[in-house]
Amino acid sequence: MKFFVDTAEIDAIAELNDLGMVDGVTTNPSLILKSGRDILEVTKEICDLVDGPVSAEVVATQADAMIAEGRKLAEIAPNIAVKLPLTWDGLKACKLLTGEGRMVNVTLCFSANQALIAAKAGATFISPFIGRLDDINIDGMDLIADIRAVYDNYGYETQILAASIRSVNHVLESARIGADVMTAPPDVIKKLAAHPLTDKGLEQFLSDWAKTGQTIL
Ligand code: G3P
Repeated sequence: MKFFVDTAEIDAIAELNDLGMVDGVTTNPSLILKSGRDILEVTKEICDLVDGPVSAEVVATQADAMIAEGRKLAEIAPNIAVKLPLTWDGLKACKLLTGEGRMVNVTLCFSANQALIAAKAGATFISPFIGRLDDINIDGMDLIADIRAVYDNYGYETQILAASIRSVNHVLESARIGADVMTAPPDVIKKLAAHPLTDKGLEQFLSDWAKTGQTIL
């Protein structure tokens, strides 16, 4: 499973990237706001740091303006994936931009039918939002499973990018189902390493080691 990190915070991306945990980055207007940075500057810095796809989102809502914004964002670096909302205009822009050879991440997906038409419009990535479905009492993991089944039925190559991931269980379930990619905030990725029995076991080993009176170095 590919790991994308869902943030525009350079330091957090760099820390995970140094460990080989970053196959790509996703951003959105809310994450740009949170970073306090200029979108073009921070996105360029991220692209210089990370080899994989870096999603940068348009804010226009009409296809022509989305295409213009998408082309401008794509000029930042060859590894930009233009992020477009799953609207009819977004699908028009998706078709055109992928036809130009650009990567496109279609975002704000909340149904398998939306994912189906995004694939037909040539999307490189589809981003179903798990956490936001959970927020309204709909199981977000069911959506990942439905999209996986639909795409596999017909051999669509659009990659399922599980998004709005809020917990380590979301990561595990997405991996079980076979999402191609998951994007999560840095703190969720770091929590994947945590287990209370690891902490307890280490405490015991260190306590016993102290009793030996030995040193390694
Ligand atoms: O990747 C999409 C993500 O940024 C949205 O997450 O937690 O705001 O629903 P959230």
